[in-house]
Amino acid sequence: LVAYSIGNATAGRGAPASAPFALRPGDDIVVTEAEHHANLIPWQELAARTGAVLRHIPVRDDGTLDLDAAASIIGERTRVVAFSHVSNVLGIVNPVTEIVALAKAVGALTVMDACQSAPHLALDLPALGVDLAAFSGHKMLGPYGVGALYGRTEVLEALPPFLTGGSMVTTVTLDEAGFLPAPQKFEGGTQPVSQAIGLAAAARYLDAIGMDAVHAHERVIGRRLLTGLDAIDGVRVLGDPGADVDRIGLASFDVAGVHAHDVGQFLDSRGIAVRVGHHCAKPLHARFGLTASVRASASVFTTDDDIDRFLDAVSGVRAYFGAEGATA
Ligand SMILES: Cc1ncc(COP(=O)(O)O)c(C=O)c1O
Repeated sequence: LVAYSIGNATAGRGAPASAPFALRPGDDIVVTEAEHHANLIPWQELAARTGAVLRHIPVRDDGTLDLDAAASIIGERTRVVAFSHVSNVLGIVNPVTEIVALAKAVGALTVMDACQSAPHLALDLPALGVDLAAFSGHKMLGPYGVGALYGRTEVLEALPPFLTGGSMVTTVTLDEAGFLPAPQKFEGGTQPVSQAIGLAAAARYLDAIGMDAVHAHERVIGRRLLTGLDAIDGVRVLGDPGADVDRIGLASFDVAGVHAHDVGQFLDSRGIAVRVGHHCAKPLHARFGLTASVRASASVFTTDDDIDRFLDAVSGVRAYFGAEGATA
C-alpha cells in the first residue's frame, strides 16, 4: 500500500500534499538484506517505476544488521528506509531506534514491517518513532487476508490513495471525486469485515495474556531452542545463536548433508510442524550460502517439553538419512 501510494505521489488528486513523497531518478530507497519479499519487491517495483535506486543494509555473519554500513548507505539521497522490526528467518529484533535516527537525520520516511514483532512483543510504534508500520493478521493468531497499517497522522494525510473505489469518497460527480481522510481514503471498496472481526479477537486474546508476558515466555523458550540446536552435531543455526541481541522464539537452521525439505518431512512424520524453504527471504538465504533452511517457530502456547521433543527429533535426522559424515 505504502509503496503504491508513494508511486502515486503528485499523480491524481491530493497532489500538492503528496509532492514531498515523490521519488525521482537519483533518489535512494534503502532496505535491508534480511527483508521478507513482502518488504522488498514493492520497493524494487517502485524503484523501477520512478528511477530511484534500491540500496540495502547488509547483514553481518552473526545475523545482526551492519549499522556502520547503514550509516554510510543512508545519506542525503535517501528518501525511504524500509526495514523489518524482526526478521522472519533470524528472529532477531532489529535496532529500530538507531535506524530511525539515521533516517530522520536525512529526512527520509521510515516504513517498518512489523509482521514478526506485532505477534511476539509489546509494540509502541509512536515511541519507536517510525512514520509507517504494517503487520498481518495471520501472523498473530488471526485470519488470513487482513492486516493493519499504522501511520503518523500527517504522513497518512499527505499520502495519496493507492486504490480507488466506493466508500472512500466525500462526493462524486461524473468528472471527479473527493476523498475522505485516512484511513477511509486507503480503503476503497468493500472491506474484509469478517477478517477484521477475527483480527480484533486475536488482538484481544493476545492483549489478555499481555504482550510483555508473551515476549518473556518466548525469550526463555527461544533460548532453549537456540542452545539446543547449537549443541547438535551438523546443525548450523543461521546467524550466531549466542549473539547479544533481543529475539523472538524462532530459529532457522541447516542440517549438513540433508535437504531442508527432507528434514521437514522427517519431523512431520513425528508430529512436528516446521517451515522449510527460503521463507520468502531468498536474498538472506543467499547471504548465508543456502537455498533453503528449516525454521522452528515458538509461540505463547509452546512448552519446554515441545522444544525438547523437537530437539530430540532433530538429533536423529542425520543418522536417519545416513548423512553423519557430511559437513555444512
Ligand atoms: C517479516 C514478514 N513480513 C511480511 C510478511 C508477509 O505478510 P503477508 O503475506 O500477509 O503480506 C511475512 C509473512 O508472511 C513476514 O514474516
